[in-house]
Amino acid sequence: MIVVSHRGPVSFRREPDGQFTARRGAGGVVSALAPLLTDRADAHWIAAAIGDDDRAAVAAGAVSTPGLNVELVSFDPELHRLHYDVMSNRILWFCFHGLFNLPSAPNFDRAMHAAWDAYRAVNQAFAEAIATRASAGEVVLVQDLQLMLVPAFLRELRPDLAISHFTHTPFCGPMELRVLPDPIADELCSSLADTPSGFHTERWAEAFRRCARDVLGRDASSTFAASFGPDPEDLAAASATPEAAESLHALESQIGDRRCIVRADRVELSKNIGRGFLAFDELLETHPEWRDRVTFVAMLNPSRESIVEYRNYRTDVEAIAARVNARWGTAEWQPIVLDTRDNFPRSVAALERADVILVNPVRDGLNLVAMEGPLLNERDAVLCLSREAGAFELLREHCLEVHPFDVSQTAEALHAALAMAPAERAVKSVGLQAAARSRPADNWLIELVNRAR
Ligand code: F6P
Repeated sequence: MIVVSHRGPVSFRREPDGQFTARRGAGGVVSALAPLLTDRADAHWIAAAIGDDDRAAVAAGAVSTPGLNVELVSFDPELHRLHYDVMSNRILWFCFHGLFNLPSAPNFDRAMHAAWDAYRAVNQAFAEAIATRASAGEVVLVQDLQLMLVPAFLRELRPDLAISHFTHTPFCGPMELRVLPDPIADELCSSLADTPSGFHTERWAEAFRRCARDVLGRDASSTFAASFGPDPEDLAAASATPEAAESLHALESQIGDRRCIVRADRVELSKNIGRGFLAFDELLETHPEWRDRVTFVAMLNPSRESIVEYRNYRTDVEAIAARVNARWGTAEWQPIVLDTRDNFPRSVAALERADVILVNPVRDGLNLVAMEGPLLNERDAVLCLSREAGAFELLREHCLEVHPFDVSQTAEALHAALAMAPAERAVKSVGLQAAARSRPADNWLIELVNRAR
């Protein structure tokens, strides 16, 4: 089989001595797929070379990844920027997550149409790379929003292949999709409707079916829902490292015996970080009993900083946290501890130490933190989870529901979580952990293979 994703399982760095070192790629797609494809001679992974060092590694023939058969496809940097930064991240990502600020964006001017042409060109180049590599009748599993046209282009080149596509983001409804120019909406829907297309939840699958009916006037009958949870062994290994133990120790000395609300996220507009801090602010105002007794630890991982909206978002989030700290902080107590150092062991330690885990995205395809947190946690942490996260479908009975735009409701959910009796916390925690273990990623992969045609 061939797995195809934009971000690959490794990224390369050129060292001062000219040699290349490989680092594991970031993100949920990679963490689900990498363990399943390691040491499998029959599996190939095709991904994009992201950045100058990856491109140099390709040019030097240095893309060697022990245990994985990886091929990286290189693009002209400007073409790739238009495909990834502009069309994938500023247009499709915003559209599917409902993030457009419609009075001012998007503007589909000539520059934007050029970005769509770049998106098509990169998808076509991926299709050609797959067509060259694939043996007769091989299964091809295409991943995510950056590669939605690959199935259509590939079918033209190689009708013998068995193809499926899986979208890791949410999908929007027809009115939101109609913001895209008609030829773009049409081409995206056609490619996915003509291919077995998977989504993390039935809700996103149904949203796509409705879009296909509205845009194409026909049914997308091979659309399906399938999903996966985190790898518990991977998490246990992360938690057993000396770095995680040191981080936990450092956190304990910083917050003492106070209760602890934790979030761990990319600095990403869909994650709703600011409203989480505003909810904490309202909690401290309306429930004074929690002042100086709770610390909100936010482990944030800066992302997509080449995009102005992401840089502005980070500034906004930091400003809100600073205001809350200035309002309530004392010499002994910093209400919000915000850490943007992108440090995985510290995130692991914070999730272990949490009494409450807040996951309140405005919309999210799945959200693995909602499952990783309870598996790592050692204190029966209560999960406050947005009903707009794909993971809510699985975890709803075992968490406290959050309405992501209702700051007051979120504040009350945080209060209920902090005040919950130990016996109820324990019951919820058992349920969360069982649910998080109930979806091994290999079942999901088998489903994608079986659906491909
Ligand atoms: O949510 C879908 C996803 O592809 C995740 O796997 C990943 O963490 C995220 O989007 C960001 O991906 P990237 O940094 O490659 O744009």
